[in-house]
Amino acid sequence: MSGDKNNKMILGAFMQAANCSNYAASWRHPETMTDFLTPEYFQRIARTLEDGKFHFAFIDDRLAMPGIYRDSIEDSLIHGVRVVKFDLIPIVMAMAMSTENLGVGATYSTTYHGPFHIARLFATLDHMTGGRVGWNVVTSLNDEEAQNFGLENHLKHDQRYDQADEVMEIIEGLWDTWADDALIANKEEGIFADPDKVRRLEYTGSYVKSRGPLTVPRPPQGHPVVMQAGQSSRGRDFAAKWGEVIFAVFKTIEEGKRIGEDIRERAAKYGRNPQDIKIVTAAYAIPGTTTESATEKMKFIESLATTTDKLTLLSELLNFDFGAYDMNHQLTPEQLNSISGSRGMAEQFMKEGKEPTISEFIDASNRGTIHELPVFCGTPNNIAIEMTEWFTEGGCDGFMLAATHVPGAYEDFVRMVIPKLQEMGTVQSEYTGQTMREGLGLERPTSQYFGRPQ
Ligand SMILES: Cc1cc2nc3c(=O)[nH]c(=O)nc-3n(C[C@H](O)[C@H](O)[C@H](O)COP(=O)(O)O)c2cc1C
Repeated sequence: MSGDKNNKMILGAFMQAANCSNYAASWRHPETMTDFLTPEYFQRIARTLEDGKFHFAFIDDRLAMPGIYRDSIEDSLIHGVRVVKFDLIPIVMAMAMSTENLGVGATYSTTYHGPFHIARLFATLDHMTGGRVGWNVVTSLNDEEAQNFGLENHLKHDQRYDQADEVMEIIEGLWDTWADDALIANKEEGIFADPDKVRRLEYTGSYVKSRGPLTVPRPPQGHPVVMQAGQSSRGRDFAAKWGEVIFAVFKTIEEGKRIGEDIRERAAKYGRNPQDIKIVTAAYAIPGTTTESATEKMKFIESLATTTDKLTLLSELLNFDFGAYDMNHQLTPEQLNSISGSRGMAEQFMKEGKEPTISEFIDASNRGTIHELPVFCGTPNNIAIEMTEWFTEGGCDGFMLAATHVPGAYEDFVRMVIPKLQEMGTVQSEYTGQTMREGLGLERPTSQYFGRPQ
């Protein structure tokens, strides 16, 4: 990992275009704003993040209301467990239009959105925001999502990554179908674009195909920044092949170092420069004027979560109904292996030869609680010291901060912790570069067909 003191820590915000933050219980927090059906809700957060010189906001997504648990949407609706999920693109635009430097990353699924559609959408966004857009590539997780798109079941785990590889080839190919200098728009000569600098793609894979060219000139960033969060072995391979900003959830600095090295080794096998990959880990921050007041704040936040939040969200993530069994039911290797959503946790249990009960599985996952992610809780100074340690010791290149309540958690962080991190020289005090890519210190990709303009 960079750990290079000349580098600055990357800061992103882990957001949802939803009625709650990543912490499903956040909507119950008395300070959480309730105007999430308006652009102002998102723009307020965007401006706060920009005040704190965050590199980007990142918006998570899922294409279905949680309904795997007890095969019903009732619990999710009553408990408000991520039931509202906007399409992210108008929200990206709203946030970008209210800021000047903040990058905005949005999640779009390679399983349910066609590659031409994704390529065009993100190329358009990249132009409209002056190169401040990232795409979080996901393959989606569960049957509920499949059924919203007319399919019975979600594709099998490894198969959807095989499909995603082809989708990526098409999308990056389409972004490269226009040379950077293809657009001439010379009114006097009546020439709009150079036909020698725009080409068809003619891609045919086993899952997807596209003829091209893209109907949008080459994006300002060459390619919008590609984000990814695969955790399983197949997922990490995919992340290492395509990802530029890789999201993870590391519990310790050592885990961050180990997984970071693994991803960078895999990337080197694809001929990539390991420095072209930035690894950011998700966390919560709960600053208080004293350690005691921070702990009190955390206890109150913890008390907002319900057991139903946990079961609903775990069932959704793993594509497995945890409500179909007694809490003491021991999961057999076959049942663990049948988990077809996010497989990281099940793979870990199988590797250790363990057969956890449902309640052990839930406890191990911490799903639906703030402890699903590391929590930095304490005085601003102590939080800044701890975060700096993660960075300088090579546990990560930066953090993606989730909010315990919205927008208060970001306001507190920017007001209390950012000045300390800036004093320590850990984070940037000014934006650098024009685009999100430049701000992150990532190379601009040259077109695979046209190279750099002469
Ligand atoms: C920080 C983070 C953010 C993620 N955001 C999304 C998301 O918005 N939508 C989604 O379908 N999956 C999301 N995922 C799931 C990943 O894309 C991936 O499926 C998951 O980490 C499991 O890895 P695997 O696919 O290799 O089993 C996220 C994962 C992490 C760690």
